[in-house]
Amino acid sequence: MVPAWLWLLCFYIPQAEVQAAELHVEVPENYGGNFPLYLIKLPLPSKDAEGQIVLSGDSGVAAEDLFSVDRESGFLMVTRALDREEKAEYQLQVTLETEDGRVLWGPQSVTVHVKDENDQVPQFSQAIYRAHLSQGTKPGIPFLFLEALDEDAPGTANSDLRFHMLSQAPAQPAPHLFLLEPHLGALALSPQGSLEHALKGPYQLLVQVKDMGDQVSGHQATATVEISILENTWVPLEPTHLAENLKVPYPHVIAQVHWSGGNVHYHLDSQPPGPFDVDSEGKLHVTRELDRETQAEYLLQVRAQNSRGEDYAEALELHVVVMDENDNAPVCLPSGPSIKIPELSPPGTEVTRLSAEDADVSGSPNSHVVYRLLTPDLEEGAEGRSFELDPTSGTVTLGTIPLQAGQNILLQVLAIDLAGAEGGLSSTCEVAVVITDINDHAPEFTTAQIGPVSLPEDVEPGTMVATLMATDADLEPAFRLMDFAIEAGDTEGIFGLDWEPDSGHVQLILRKNLSYEAAPHHKVVVVVQNVEELVGPGPGPGATATVTVLVERVTPPLKLDQESYEASIPVSTPAGSLLLTIQSSDPTNRTLRFSLVNDSEGWFCIKEVSGEVHTAQTLQGAQPGDTYTVLVEVQDADEPHLSTSATIMVHFLKAPPVPALTLAPLSSQHLCTPRQDYGVVVSGRGEDPYLASGHGPYSFSLGPNPTVQRDWQLQPFNDSHAYLTLALHWVEPGEHMVPVVVHHNAQTWQFLVRVIVCRCNVEGECLRKVGHLKGMPTKLSAVGVLVGTLAAIGFFLILIFAHLTLARKKDLDQPADSMPLKAAV
Ligand SMILES: *[C@@H]1O[C@H](CO)[C@@H](O)[C@H](O)[C@H]1NC(C)=O
Ligand SMILES: *[C@@H]1O[C@H](CO)[C@@H](O)[C@H](O)[C@H]1NC(C)=O
Ligand SMILES: *[C@@H]1O[C@H](CO)[C@@H](O)[C@H](O)[C@H]1NC(C)=O
Ligand SMILES: *[C@@H]1O[C@H](CO)[C@@H](O)[C@H](O)[C@H]1NC(C)=O
Repeated sequence: MVPAWLWLLCFYIPQAEVQAAELHVEVPENYGGNFPLYLIKLPLPSKDAEGQIVLSGDSGVAAEDLFSVDRESGFLMVTRALDREEKAEYQLQVTLETEDGRVLWGPQSVTVHVKDENDQVPQFSQAIYRAHLSQGTKPGIPFLFLEALDEDAPGTANSDLRFHMLSQAPAQPAPHLFLLEPHLGALALSPQGSLEHALKGPYQLLVQVKDMGDQVSGHQATATVEISILENTWVPLEPTHLAENLKVPYPHVIAQVHWSGGNVHYHLDSQPPGPFDVDSEGKLHVTRELDRETQAEYLLQVRAQNSRGEDYAEALELHVVVMDENDNAPVCLPSGPSIKIPELSPPGTEVTRLSAEDADVSGSPNSHVVYRLLTPDLEEGAEGRSFELDPTSGTVTLGTIPLQAGQNILLQVLAIDLAGAEGGLSSTCEVAVVITDINDHAPEFTTAQIGPVSLPEDVEPGTMVATLMATDADLEPAFRLMDFAIEAGDTEGIFGLDWEPDSGHVQLILRKNLSYEAAPHHKVVVVVQNVEELVGPGPGPGATATVTVLVERVTPPLKLDQESYEASIPVSTPAGSLLLTIQSSDPTNRTLRFSLVNDSEGWFCIKEVSGEVHTAQTLQGAQPGDTYTVLVEVQDADEPHLSTSATIMVHFLKAPPVPALTLAPLSSQHLCTPRQDYGVVVSGRGEDPYLASGHGPYSFSLGPNPTVQRDWQLQPFNDSHAYLTLALHWVEPGEHMVPVVVHHNAQTWQFLVRVIVCRCNVEGECLRKVGHLKGMPTKLSAVGVLVGTLAAIGFFLILIFAHLTLARKKDLDQPADSMPLKAAV
């Protein structure tokens, strides 16, 4: 195996012969030695090789003349001196070719550089420079730039130029008035020169340019600079007034500056930036219309500068004032929410102060705004108007015509500038005004008199009696809120009021029971007033209303304490016995009339007023076990149409065994005749412990004997006692056994009361027969006893009479014999 590197070597060598690297060679310019000058040995094949050298150069160069190749040595040669300024570099190609043009070797490129020699002299661009220098130019600011050219290779010392000033003529007033910057050739006034205000001129300067930089050696050239000194025309500018919205062709010249020195460029700055510029001749222009309202003043700065943008002198300032034109109409300030003015505000009350702003210059007529009221307009024939406007201040006040609450008014005011003069600009300002309500109306009832309202006495508390309606002419809901009160006619608090807070209705409500007896009619005075405080005069008569209420009497229907009555009586019940009492269930005082309707047997009777039912006679024909029904009719005495009825069922019982009438007569008692005002007390109990037991009232009646009933009268005295008196004026004196029937606890029994009737003496006492008395005294003692007794009796009688007289006075209308009856009820 052949190693890889060996293969590479085999192929590399022939190729390296073909593509040989480009060769470089340097030849000094203006070579002063012998020619031909060997430059470089070319790597030609051995000289035995066939073929001939072919040398070709870049176009236009007669390479064959200048260069050749020595076939023997293989050296490239130059045949004569080269000039870099003519051609600085040659591109050559060398080949070895056969006669028939086959390339045996090459091509080989060779670059020949010509090395510069300082063989060129610098040249000023002009032989004479003429410069204009303005007085006032700042020192150090170049006003002229000298130019010179050296054709030697750029970037080498051979072409590195320096400028120098050789002389200044005249050297007055000072020798070094100018400075020449050596590298750039910039000519400027020296600080010394600028001090000389009276610099006149002209001046002539001799200037030099030299190559080889700062080395002493080198080529040099000179030129003349003629400087003429010119008067300074760079003078301050007067402020310029420019009308806004000026209609002229633009750009429009507004000022002119001039820098009298040469080589000047003008530059303009505007503060704030504005439509201004300056042209090369120093004319300042405004390039379009100005608007004072956008910017009223500008400060322009114009500079005169050299080609490097350095100021020759301080900038000139031009103050541009934009003059106002009446190009802005007054503008109304945005009106806020509606202005609220309370009604009844006095004339002259300030409503609002209009303010229109005019953007034109303040203090001038252009912004002098006056006002004129457009609406509401003056009405025809009206004495005044509702609003007044001060044209100068714009103050709107209330006029003499009053406004109504709730009115919405749109004030339209014309704001005119130029103080309202012809041609002024205007705009319309609008202000909304709302007249607000005040509580100047008291609420009033729509009706002052209500009723009469008739109400039955028994109407229930809580019943609505009447509805009163009140109105309030105010608009504001809060001013319409009402309070109601009863002012008069209801000391008892029988009535009350009920109302919804935000309604104008109030209800008169019954709070307590009505009573016809207490008051058959009422006049209730209701007042209404605002909840909010009232402004202005107080409430009028409409604030009260009177409700008349008539109470209708209601008589409750007649009702008895029982629906039907029952009683059980023995058939032997004597006449005059009380069965029962019919009463009204109504505790109130009403007078009733009782009557029996169909007591066909006539057994019973009823007391017309008291309702007591008695047996009218002995119950002849009544059988035990029978029931007898009687209808009772009851009428109201005051209102006869009110009536009712009830039945009484009487059950007849067997007659109880009649107690033996042999009951021991009670101890005799005395009554004198003719009848006196006293009787005998009869007790129902006591005689028979068995019968007398138990509770309840005893009722007494006389036995059924008609004579007895004619002669005697029995009056209940209290629950257990009765009072037995003479019924007739005169009863035969003597001993009487009076039968008394007692009812108690459904028991009936009878006993005899022994009464001795005697003649009355003068004192209404019994005249007793002395002989009848036991242990009769002597006549004398009897007379003494009699006299003493009579005296004592007389004394007691006086007491009794006095008592009775008093008692009678009390019960004047009642018959004497009805008094004990009352006690029996
Ligand atoms: C009012 O009358 C009713 C029936 O008429 C009665 O029940 C009530 O007790 C009475 N009230 C007063 C306070 O008198
Ligand atoms: C009924 O009237 C009488 C007198 O007219 C009176 O004394 C009595 O108190 C009255 N009774 C009632 C319940 O009103
Ligand atoms: C009296 O009237 C009542 C009711 O109409 C009846 O029940 C009753 O029998 C009647 N009595 C006599 C004695 O007709
Ligand atoms: C009834 O009157 C008599 C005689 O005055 C007396 O003794 C008796 O206590 C009285 N009875 C009652 C219940 O008052």
